[in-house]
Amino acid sequence: MQEQLKALEGEARGEIEQAATLEQVEELRVRYLGRKGKLTLILRGMKDLPSDERPLVGKLGNEIRARLEDLLQQRRISLQESLKRERLERERLDVTMPGARPRLGNKHPLTLVLEEIKEIFMGLGFSVVEGPEIETDYYNFEALNLPPNHPARDMQDSFYITEKILLRTHTSPVQARTMERTAPAVPVRIICPGKVYRRDADSTHSPMFHQVEGLVVDRNVTLAHLKGVLTHFAREVFGADRKVRFRPSYFPFTEPSAEVDISCVICGGRGCRVCSHTGWLEILGSGLVHPRVLAMSGYDPDKVSGFAFGMGVERIAMLKYGIDDIRLFFENNLRFLEQFGIG
Ligand code: PHE
Repeated sequence: MQEQLKALEGEARGEIEQAATLEQVEELRVRYLGRKGKLTLILRGMKDLPSDERPLVGKLGNEIRARLEDLLQQRRISLQESLKRERLERERLDVTMPGARPRLGNKHPLTLVLEEIKEIFMGLGFSVVEGPEIETDYYNFEALNLPPNHPARDMQDSFYITEKILLRTHTSPVQARTMERTAPAVPVRIICPGKVYRRDADSTHSPMFHQVEGLVVDRNVTLAHLKGVLTHFAREVFGADRKVRFRPSYFPFTEPSAEVDISCVICGGRGCRVCSHTGWLEILGSGLVHPRVLAMSGYDPDKVSGFAFGMGVERIAMLKYGIDDIRLFFENNLRFLEQFGIG
């Protein structure tokens, strides 16, 4: 019987060492050590042994059971470990692989130009003020000295909501609103960016576009201040060697008035199609604030004076980037928009 037990141990060892899965290990445990297993069956024959042999055989049986249990456990551990190793191998993270880069957007060209304009004027001590896009006849026209028969007041040229309320046609009403609020305090140094609306649509006009208004009110403000500030502005945006010209003009809310031209960005002043062979490009309107406008908003024109200007942001952007159709800004074509700046 001892021989039988030793043979069984040998057989079991062989099989346990071959077991390739945890399920197979469990099967072997049941087959050899289970309640109906081979070891149990052999030991059942103990009752037929002479009584002096029984303790010896019983002891051997227990030792074999313990050794086989040990072996089964070792096999389990080593199988678990190799499973784990395999899984780690499969799931290994290669930190040097290129990552999945999220697609970043970029700023709209108008945002870029607007930020640049703000930056320049903030550097000169201006602050940024905003006003409503839905405006009253009073602020859009009357407070700016526009006579009742002015063409911009025509229903054909502007978007009216009621007879006395309309979408502002320029940012100049913010001049009047600001002066009303601050008078008689000086200095006033503001720019007002925002949307404006006109009934006009072609490759250089859009029914909605952006302007930046500027206003300075202080004691002894002269045309020299206006020229200095706007020359500095034009050169910051279009380059230090840009020629700047102040051409007499007319606006009801400024006197005298001047349009500001820069030497053509395409031909440098020699004359080309873009500048209609004049060598000059108009970039904004300006002038000294009309005494009547100062007075209507609560300032004493004998004590203070001021200058104002207004520019079209799309126009500045078109000249700066060489864009020939204003509609490109609003069509949301990514192939156009992606060409400007990053993040
Ligand atoms: N508001 C004028 C326009 O829209 C521009 C301007 C502003 C001119 C301020 C003079 C002073 O054309």
